[in-house]
Amino acid sequence: MEFTEDWFTHNIPNFEKCMLEVGAKRKHFLEIGAYEGRSTCWLINNIGEGGTIYSIDPFVGMEEIEERFKNNTREAVKGTKVISCHVKSTSYQALAKMISNKQEFDFIYIDGDHDPATTLADAAMAWGMLKTGGVMLFDDYEYPQEPTKVGIQGFMQGFVGKYDLVLQNYQLAVKKK
Ligand SMILES: C[S@@+](CC[C@H](N)C(=O)[O-])C[C@H]1O[C@@H](n2cnc3c(N)ncnc32)[C@H](O)[C@@H]1O
Repeated sequence: MEFTEDWFTHNIPNFEKCMLEVGAKRKHFLEIGAYEGRSTCWLINNIGEGGTIYSIDPFVGMEEIEERFKNNTREAVKGTKVISCHVKSTSYQALAKMISNKQEFDFIYIDGDHDPATTLADAAMAWGMLKTGGVMLFDDYEYPQEPTKVGIQGFMQGFVGKYDLVLQNYQLAVKKK
């Protein structure tokens, strides 16, 4: 596998906690923001037998990165029954289609556009497709360079009472009641 960036490894303990919360029957994952597929490859290895993972990323002007994502995920699924689906689109359009197809997920990772309005829209749209007992994990809750936290807090306030807090550190995760 080939990666040039690592925004993922330091978050593995959070992902492990989320996997425990979701439970052994986890099968359907959604990821917004894939880049070279570092988080995707880890999730492929931690999904249930015969599971699926949808990774949304428009890869605008990112041909080499997209190629690396494809090669890395192709290698990660080898020898498994996991299906990795790349949705080459912005989250808004992709999520709208998934909602109308009535897709459902056990685990959702939000790591796409870090603009607060997009983060809030991603979370609100994806929330309806998260199963009860499913977990939604946000990256960059405590990232001072970008106001992602504002969008996450907007979601938290709007959906208060509908989730339990799973973890809050650099990232934040909630479990759907
Ligand atoms: C920080 S990277 C993702 C890193 C990856 N999750 C990992 O841990 O290795 C953010 C990605 O979000 C993508 N992105 C930006 N805006 C997006 C949008 N509106 N919808 C979906 N993906 C978006 C970018 O193209 C970029 O690849």
